[in-house]
Amino acid sequence: MNAPIVSFNHVGKSFDVDGFELEAIREFNLDIAEGEFVAIVGSSGCGKSTLLRLLVGLDTQYRGHITVDGKAVTGIGGERGIVFQEHRLFPWLTVADNIGLGLVNEPLSAEQKHKRVDDFIDLVGLKDFTRAYPHQLSGGMAQRVAIARGLVASPRILLLDEPFGALDALTRQQMQDELLAIRSRAKITTILVTHDVEEAIFLADRVVVMEPRPGRIKQVVDIALPHPRQRSSFDFHQLREELLHELTADGHYQPPVQVQVRDLPLSFIAC
Ligand SMILES: Nc1ncnc2c1ncn2[C@@H]1O[C@H](COP(=O)(O)OP(=O)(O)O)[C@@H](O)[C@H]1O
Ligand SMILES: [Mg+2]
Repeated sequence: MNAPIVSFNHVGKSFDVDGFELEAIREFNLDIAEGEFVAIVGSSGCGKSTLLRLLVGLDTQYRGHITVDGKAVTGIGGERGIVFQEHRLFPWLTVADNIGLGLVNEPLSAEQKHKRVDDFIDLVGLKDFTRAYPHQLSGGMAQRVAIARGLVASPRILLLDEPFGALDALTRQQMQDELLAIRSRAKITTILVTHDVEEAIFLADRVVVMEPRPGRIKQVVDIALPHPRQRSSFDFHQLREELLHELTADGHYQPPVQVQVRDLPLSFIAC
């Protein structure tokens, strides 16, 4: 493999919970190549979101090393975009202004920002909704806005934390197709956290299976199926069975907890 774009080296993370140390991640080692699509699956609480927060630079207290292009991650940066499960759009801002938040830290003129936002509204197919407010959008549309916001600063790495988890099955499949289409245009390195094994196999080059307490890698599975992938194919089924077995074999599998939408500070969203 060429020099990895993302490297986790002996990464560990603990939280202080009521005076006790909770070890959330232990000895996480993973190199990700430029352009690669890695999915992370695992029980609720096994540290998936924490890993993304560390990589995006929202939390800089951890053991070991996380590097992007060989440089240590010390905070948020425009080359890393993130999309959360709940879209986290600001209800009082239009679609265009919500997407524009992804550019707050970019050294662009107002005109350049405007043009960039328009391009990304086009990319996610929301041209007719530029001036709409979040409450006027369906769940899938709102999530597309969140994806556009994650992409608008042209990050080289896109982090997705259960981005389609709250959508119905059909919309989820459409969003998966769109994500692949966006990726085929811009060879963006992608890390997707999902509890949906099928989604992981449909999208990823590699699937990292985590195990909980403390969160660590159980197995990394290569998905060598050519695109477009057929969910009904034999090979797809085999992989699905294999991964489901890995996830549930120890009997400790916990399904994801549905998260509540809540308001967060701007710095948390515009990264
Ligand atoms: N800010 C925090 N303070 C204390 N404990 C936390 C915090 N964030 C996460 N945790 C704990 O760390 C573990 C991993 O959490 P998380 O990364 O959210 O898991 P996942 O995304 O895989 O469900 C869980 O036990 C969770 O309760
Ligand atoms: Mg999570």
